[in-house]
Amino acid sequence: MSDETLPVATALRHKDLLAISDMTPEEIRLVLDTAEAMKEIGSRTIKKVPALRGKTVVNLFFEPSTRTRTSFEIAEKRLSADTLNIAIASSSVVKGETLADTALTLEAMNPDMIVLRHSSSGAAHLLSRICKSSIINAGDGTHEHPTQALLDAYTIRSRKGGIAGLKVAIVGDLLHSRVLRSNVHLLTKLGAEVWVCGPPTLIPVDIARLGVKVTHRVDEAVEGADVIMLLRIQLERMQGAYFPSLREYFSVFGMTEARVKRAKDDVIIMHPGPMNRGVEIASEVADGPFSVILDQVANGVAVRMAVLYLLAGGVEHHEEAA
Ligand code: CP
Repeated sequence: MSDETLPVATALRHKDLLAISDMTPEEIRLVLDTAEAMKEIGSRTIKKVPALRGKTVVNLFFEPSTRTRTSFEIAEKRLSADTLNIAIASSSVVKGETLADTALTLEAMNPDMIVLRHSSSGAAHLLSRICKSSIINAGDGTHEHPTQALLDAYTIRSRKGGIAGLKVAIVGDLLHSRVLRSNVHLLTKLGAEVWVCGPPTLIPVDIARLGVKVTHRVDEAVEGADVIMLLRIQLERMQGAYFPSLREYFSVFGMTEARVKRAKDDVIIMHPGPMNRGVEIASEVADGPFSVILDQVANGVAVRMAVLYLLAGGVEHHEEAA
């Protein structure tokens, strides 16, 4: 594929990517289709196209990250953007500078995009209101992680040929998971039947209103499932005791080979990472024949390239429209 065959990037309605709840099914499909083209670039000997030459992208991560931060940086470099990683520990944040002042300081240097991860839900929306550059939400508190859901959808679509009509079982710590919210919005918009499962203490009270089926029985959730997605027990966000012990959690909710056998013969096993082996997932399942966990990581680069590319076109589109 030549660089001229990349899709024309004017079809995202907003200058930012803040949440899957803001996206239409057509916008989601556009990102997934664009990611197909980006994936091919990653398989070339020289993995670089000039699509974002002259654009500056700032990666601003206030929380730890391995997959999201590195895949955004690789995606930016493959598109020839100038990238800047802010090291929070050696920035003026440690002197007490607020998120808004940090963002406005960076904005004064005229970047085109800011990729933000932050522990506060709504942090990306705050930057969207005060910054002219495009804001990409790389995970905000327990709210959303839109590029994770997009790469998950890309992975499911690659393996299953589509998403509509699939039974997707999401099992784990639903209460603290931004990945859950983004995936529920995306998968229901594209017509999947979504089941969520976890201990009562780790299920948000209003989750059924998002159009999912709720169960506390793992066997019911995974019965006949096309996709099983495990979510990490987020001990760092837990103040009290949500279940008696990690050992008991694994015995009741952990994904074992025996439980996987209840799903379809061609089930795929997903996990956004990082995994707690022996807690939400057995090592035999994480490393087993149905696991697509490392495919998710690989697809994250192509999907983030697509998001950067489409938003770069979108900025020009919105400026023209203003
Ligand atoms: N899935 C995910 O967000 O992983 P990281 O925290 O490593 O970025």
